[in-house]
Amino acid sequence: MLSLQEQFQQTFGRAPTVIARAPGRIEFIGNHTDYNGGAVLGAAIDRYVWVAAAPNAAGRFRLQSHGGAKPLDLPAVPAARLTGAESWANYPLGVWRSLGDFKLPQPAGFDLFITSDLPAGAGLSSSAALELATALALLELAGSEPIAPEQLAALGRHAENNYVGVPCGILDQGTSAFGRAGQLVHIDCRGPYFSRVPLPAGTHLWIFNTREKHALIDGLYATRHRECLEAAQTLGVARLADLTPAQFRPLEPKLTPELARRAKHVIEEHARVGDTVAALQRGNLPAVGRLLTASHRSSQHLFENSTPALDRLVDLLEKHPAVYGARLTGGGFGGAVMALTREDFSMAEAEAIAAQAAPRPDLIHLQSADGAAVVR
Ligand code: GLA
Repeated sequence: MLSLQEQFQQTFGRAPTVIARAPGRIEFIGNHTDYNGGAVLGAAIDRYVWVAAAPNAAGRFRLQSHGGAKPLDLPAVPAARLTGAESWANYPLGVWRSLGDFKLPQPAGFDLFITSDLPAGAGLSSSAALELATALALLELAGSEPIAPEQLAALGRHAENNYVGVPCGILDQGTSAFGRAGQLVHIDCRGPYFSRVPLPAGTHLWIFNTREKHALIDGLYATRHRECLEAAQTLGVARLADLTPAQFRPLEPKLTPELARRAKHVIEEHARVGDTVAALQRGNLPAVGRLLTASHRSSQHLFENSTPALDRLVDLLEKHPAVYGARLTGGGFGGAVMALTREDFSMAEAEAIAAQAAPRPDLIHLQSADGAAVVR
């Protein structure tokens, strides 16, 4: 296989001047808490998006993704969103526009080549990784000083909210920016404030990717986002995570049964993140595992963003003695289940579980990883 430099050379007839990479992430726990002002734990993973870039003349923007037929060649960054087969380019172009919104230097023109070993649609945040790797590469082309990871995460989220049109929170970009091998990234999304919590030695992370993706996934995410804001408004709070489970209980009848389920999920999930941090600090892995699986059950029954295939995998994993806990990871409505296991959980055991699920999921044995960086 050609290296990224060679692919760039073959596409654009010259060498890249910078290569940046950003990791995907797992959502360890904290499902749909981020845009509700709650807490979340994530980990950057050893699967990446790489962006190679070189400066171009002003007003020449060429973009190519690995496997694409030919580069997109634009005289200007379009004001409107691209649609259809070109819609992937909204991410890098949205990042270029966001640099302007953030008063950061923008290269006047560029050539960009994108490649990745992150499965798209698995809920592992290939979008955020693309945003962050692009931002780092473009800043380097524009001769900018390095920016703080807080700003990098905010920039990526801004691009996604405004130029892709997904009202996501800060989890994906924050984890990709702040990731560190052997650590979980803790985000208090009210700030947001970032910190890290060690991932206990001897634990392993696995992904069981169902490869199913709901056709209306972005629309369903936006619907949940709207439902949460509506519930908060009815309850008279700025954000759902402002309420504890005890404060919520007497207020619950104010909501329709459906909005009550959404709110209960978010409020209890926020509390579970705090409990998980405490259990990690005590080294109580069985307790961590129970919280992970409880989070899944809450997604399944209250937030209703799971699927039968994800539920089936959690049912199977939960019974295995070397599995601490398992849950859907990311937005839901398809994607993947994450499992936290003992180190003696083997590929053969993972395969045996996968074989009982239909369709058979793809398996990834993950390592936690460092965050987004310029690599050359
Ligand atoms: C997606 C979004 C995140 C977060 C999760 C659910 O990954 O991009 O901001 O809301 O879903 O927790």
